[in-house]
Formats: sequence, C-alpha cells, structure tokens
Amino acid sequence: MLRTRRLSRKYGLKPLERKLDQERQLARKFWADRPLEAYYEEIQPQTGLLIERLSQIEFNSIFEFGCNVGRNLYWIRKEYADVAVLGMDINESAIERGKDLFEFSGQELKVGDEEDLARLPTDGFDIVFTVSVLDHLPEIGATLNELLRIAAKRVMLLELVLPGDGLRLSDEIWPFSYSHNYTRAFNKLALKAIQERSVVLGEGPLSHYCLYELEPQ
Ligand SMILES: C[S@@+](CC[C@H](N)C(=O)[O-])C[C@H]1O[C@@H](n2cnc3c(N)ncnc32)[C@H](O)[C@@H]1O
Repeated sequence: MLRTRRLSRKYGLKPLERKLDQERQLARKFWADRPLEAYYEEIQPQTGLLIERLSQIEFNSIFEFGCNVGRNLYWIRKEYADVAVLGMDINESAIERGKDLFEFSGQELKVGDEEDLARLPTDGFDIVFTVSVLDHLPEIGATLNELLRIAAKRVMLLELVLPGDGLRLSDEIWPFSYSHNYTRAFNKLALKAIQERSVVLGEGPLSHYCLYELEPQ
C-alpha cells in the first residue's frame, strides 16, 4: 500500500481529465507526430530479452505492434532469417525511416494504430509482441483482445507497470503515458497460461517494466 502510494506520487499518476475518446485522439496525435529518436535505432537490452524468450518457442511468423523503426524486428530477423515479420506503428516517419535503415519492405513495415489490428487475420502470426506501447494507450481492453486474436502461439508484452488503472503519468515524466492493471485486464481474456516477470530496463520509470507472456486458448 505504501509502495503504491509512493509510486503514484513519484510518477504523478492522476485520473484522465478528458473523456476517453478525446484522450485517445490526443495520444494518437502525439505519438503519430513525435520526432524520431536515435535510441530506437540502436539495439537495447530488451531486444536481447525478446530474442532469448523466442528461443523457447517454434515460430514462423512474428508481428510487433508499435514497432517504431522496427529495431526489434531487425535483430529478430538477423537471428531467425526465415521468419515472416510485420511491424505496425502509428508514426509514419518512423515506418519510412525503418524501411530505409533496415531494408524492410512495404509489406513488412506498415503505418497503423490499434484500430487497424482488425485488418489482420485471426491466428495470422505465431508470435505477437509489444514493447512499451500499451502504456501509451489510455485504455487497453479491446487492443489486448485483438493482439490475442492475431496470435496463434504467444503474445509477449514488455510494458511499464505502475499501480493504478488508466491513470495518466505526469507530462514532465512521459507525456501521453498511462498505467494499467494488467492482471485485471487478463482476467477478462480467454487464456491458457500467463507468465510474468519483472524487468529493469534502466532508471526511473524504466525500472518498472514487466514481461507478460500469454498463451491463447
Ligand atoms: C516507446 S516506443 C517503443 C517502440 C518499439 N516498440 C521499440 O521497442 O523500439 C512506443 C511506440 O509506440 C507507438 N505508438 C504509440 N501509440 C500508438 C498507437 N495508438 N498505435 C500504434 N503505435 C503507437 C509510437 O509511435 C512509438 O513508436
């Protein structure tokens, strides 16, 4: 309880001040227009963690929702050359940069947001994953449902986990970022198994990540 209150204060967590739809639109606009950052072009420890976890699963196809320039997919494809990849991100400049930088085709990197997930086939990819994307959506229930529908074998979510549900982090810390109660959200889904482990990706908010691995039913 004390920890919850401390974290809540530290990251300035507060309820949404706007209606959910308006918040969603503003968050999408912010992430769609966000300038590119060199950080997303360089391999990071989280990419290595994903590759390590993938070594435990047989898979032929993989989809990253919120891929930015596709850095994770680039390194995954280096390790698994025959695997079909798809990355989707709301930021068009990131998608274009990823095509140039990592030589992805237009079929492999696409512009899209959570509403575009509906266009992807059921069980269309063996693995579906996100890295720090659901924490930029003010509400995640429908998106989780879609990610699970698209995944034939596993959904991996490496996401910021702070106390609270649908609360907004202080803009001074990270604009348009939100806390979610993942356990509660998973309880509403049809799952065969859930694995969970805490992951420290750095300092401050980066020390509060969790890798969830969900097996669809
Ligand atoms: C913290 S970055 C992580 C990028 C990438 N997953 C990685 O690990 O390099 C969050 C990404 O989510 C994308 N994003 C945010 N909201 C989105 C939405 N509604 N639909 C699709 N992508 C979104 C952003 O454009 C950004 O590229």
